[in-house]
Amino acid sequence: MKLLSPTKENLQTAAKAIKSGLLVAFPTETVYGLGADGFNPTAVAKIFEVKRRPEFQSLSLMLPDKSYIKEVAELDNKKAIYLIEKFLPGPLTLVLPKKKSVPDIVTGGKATVGIRIPENRIALNLLHLAGIPVAAPSANLYGKLSPTSAEHVAEQFGESVDFIIDGGETRLGLESTIIEVVNNKFTLLRNGGIPVEEIEKAIDEKIIPAQTKSAKKNPALNKIKTAFIDKVNLDNIEREKTGLLLFTEKNIYGNFAVVKSLSGKGNLEEAAVNLFAALRSFEKEDIDLLLFEKIPQKGLGRAIMDRLRKITG
Ligand code: TXA
Ligand code: MG
Repeated sequence: MKLLSPTKENLQTAAKAIKSGLLVAFPTETVYGLGADGFNPTAVAKIFEVKRRPEFQSLSLMLPDKSYIKEVAELDNKKAIYLIEKFLPGPLTLVLPKKKSVPDIVTGGKATVGIRIPENRIALNLLHLAGIPVAAPSANLYGKLSPTSAEHVAEQFGESVDFIIDGGETRLGLESTIIEVVNNKFTLLRNGGIPVEEIEKAIDEKIIPAQTKSAKKNPALNKIKTAFIDKVNLDNIEREKTGLLLFTEKNIYGNFAVVKSLSGKGNLEEAAVNLFAALRSFEKEDIDLLLFEKIPQKGLGRAIMDRLRKITG
């Protein structure tokens, strides 16, 4: 890990690092973020790995300016457009329907994506130099507080991030407010830097907090039943109507209608990158049941298992 002062040359180095798939922590006006190329699934997988997240959470994309929004999200709601005009750059993350360009691993398989334009000169310079959407959660380990200084980031990550840009203490020390706008409905997902009252005033509308809405089920694999292979009696299933998702290429379970593997050689990072596409691909198959082989529960394997458990219910 290299701690960099925010000079122009250093920001250029950091921007190049992001574009080549490395991880860079940098200051924003709220807290420090841990950034990776938002269009590079392998780089994004590394974020989950170094944060030691036991699950795939949706990450927001940080954008250099408003012109990038249309590259990653659908924006047709007039009030949402007004919020962007009024509050961005600033501590507001808007969750909008995502475009195809955004990899599933960024959104945790969700159909929406969070967008954020930070109000911090160092962050904006870095984003402009990189010229791409940067997937960036807060730069803390899972379960730890969001860092407000470069030292906090360095203490938590040590060598597991490539660069940390030292911009001193962050101005707010509180994360951004998150508002979801889907089907013209505004929902508060997190309180943060901009009071929700200010946002309500701007759009002249009450915003419902997320807790009062019923939890949405992940629509993936709706019609296909799923189970872990070690939980079923293989003598009782119809193999020609069953799919199997293996961890590696090694199949000790025999023939099935479709057999796929997440990573031929058993690389957890590659498995994480392939997970969502693999799950989606089974939806197109003529099967009633999909079996999962268990994944080793270490590193990114925990997040993969968490997702598979959520699907099997
Ligand atoms: O101020 C901030 O927002 C900081 C700085 C670094 O930008 N970032 C931050 O990121 O707090 P993170 O990943 O620690 O928290 C973002 C929250 C997460 O709880 C995530 O689940 C939620 O935003 N989120 C992101 N995209 C979402 C989506 N498409 N749908 C629902 N929730 C989303
Ligand atoms: Mg966080």
